[in-house]
Amino acid sequence: MTANPFHLAWFLQGSSAQAWGEPWTGHIGTTWAQPELFLNMARSLERACFDYILIEDSSYVGESFGGSTEIYLKNAIAVPRQDPSVVAALMTQVTSRIGIVPTFGTYAYHPYLLARLVATLDQVSGGRIGWNAVTGSSDFAAMNFGMQGMPEHDTRYDMADEYMEVVRKLWGSWEPDAIVADRKSGVLVDPSKVHAVNFQGKYFSTRGPLNSGVGPQGQPVIAQAGGSPRGRRFAAAHAETIVVNAKGIDAMRAYRDDVHKHMIAQGRKPSDCKVLFLINPILGETMEEALERKETRQRMANQQVEQRLAHFGKVTNIDFGKFDIDKPLPDHVTTNGHQLNLEQFRTMAKGRSIRETMASFNAVDLSIDLCGTCDAVAARMGEVMQEVGGDGFLFSMPNVNRRTLAEIEDGLIPALQDRGLVRKAYEHEHFRANLLAY
Ligand SMILES: Cc1cc2nc3c(=O)[nH]c(=O)nc-3n(C[C@H](O)[C@H](O)[C@H](O)COP(=O)(O)O)c2cc1C
Repeated sequence: MTANPFHLAWFLQGSSAQAWGEPWTGHIGTTWAQPELFLNMARSLERACFDYILIEDSSYVGESFGGSTEIYLKNAIAVPRQDPSVVAALMTQVTSRIGIVPTFGTYAYHPYLLARLVATLDQVSGGRIGWNAVTGSSDFAAMNFGMQGMPEHDTRYDMADEYMEVVRKLWGSWEPDAIVADRKSGVLVDPSKVHAVNFQGKYFSTRGPLNSGVGPQGQPVIAQAGGSPRGRRFAAAHAETIVVNAKGIDAMRAYRDDVHKHMIAQGRKPSDCKVLFLINPILGETMEEALERKETRQRMANQQVEQRLAHFGKVTNIDFGKFDIDKPLPDHVTTNGHQLNLEQFRTMAKGRSIRETMASFNAVDLSIDLCGTCDAVAARMGEVMQEVGGDGFLFSMPNVNRRTLAEIEDGLIPALQDRGLVRKAYEHEHFRANLLAY
């Protein structure tokens, strides 16, 4: 048993059509626009005492496979996607403790708009909002916002560093006790406690103050997922939770140690940021059933190599439709998108063809292999946390449906709780307080 419980979060791969083509998804093809599944999810994960739900977003329709949107649209690969702020707001209204973390790209929002949106969400949620701060990586997304393409990878992080400075100043433009709400004098806000920001930077400028006022957390929680060396420096500077798909226990430990090193160099305490590792556990009532499910999942991955390459191409900006996928990936291929993913793909390839590599890449395991009964998987998660040192896991399930949610809430979570590995009740009202409680 670990000294402290570890943290749990859920990676919702975008708000809308979930798991199209997967079993147990009901009439998802016609019901996806309604928020019921997400509201169910938020309630279920709150009953399971998860720290947060992270809502992914990328703001464009994929077009990087064969130079066409066809494979993305036909197979519902990251499309349709509703606006994450709306889904986040709805989730906050059916819950009272779980953190909700929508993704907003720094390329897509002016910092003033972003600061106001996130502060408003923090207000309506009663202090439970985080922001997954991403720089974006696709030229197609950039073109949706009037740019020719994305700035170069490391420049995006330089811009995002300045962006963080601006939004933090905007969130700080109201002192915490600025609202006096004095009915006798008739004064709502004390003008001496609301300040202009007058920020003039290299990339952004704003006047301030923020017209929404601040949220209960003051500065909302920042989540991040930078995988490259520059991305890790950015994450270590700003994030209070980092999500990563590191491959195997050694890589998990090394990643977390590296984040801690960067945090210390920037004057931060390592305990102020929770590093969560991606997992997609495969559960069964018996080991045999879990293994059967794993085989089925692997068979589906073998049959869906092109779709999976299209998704991988969307995050790496690589058009795999251009290559003979029965040959290895040519050495000269690089990415201005997610660097760590491409590096992991290459490490795994070991001279194998693109098809063979993709069939096993992230198919049945993410950071670690988890397959078995709830009790066996709970025990393994505990061992892994002991070996890595912390801080928890981010569930990234391919088959998002009510059955999967029930298996986790009513099967895996009680097994983890019985072992003292995760919390049985929230300690605090606000998201940050729960996240940093241990
Ligand atoms: C679990 C996880 C969730 C992510 N969610 C998003 C997202 O919603 N939108 C996005 O543009 N990027 C997302 N990313 C990509 C990261 O922001 C980052 O670009 C990526 O991990 C590569 O790191 P690098 O930019 O430092 O190369 C996510 C990455 C991970 C591991």
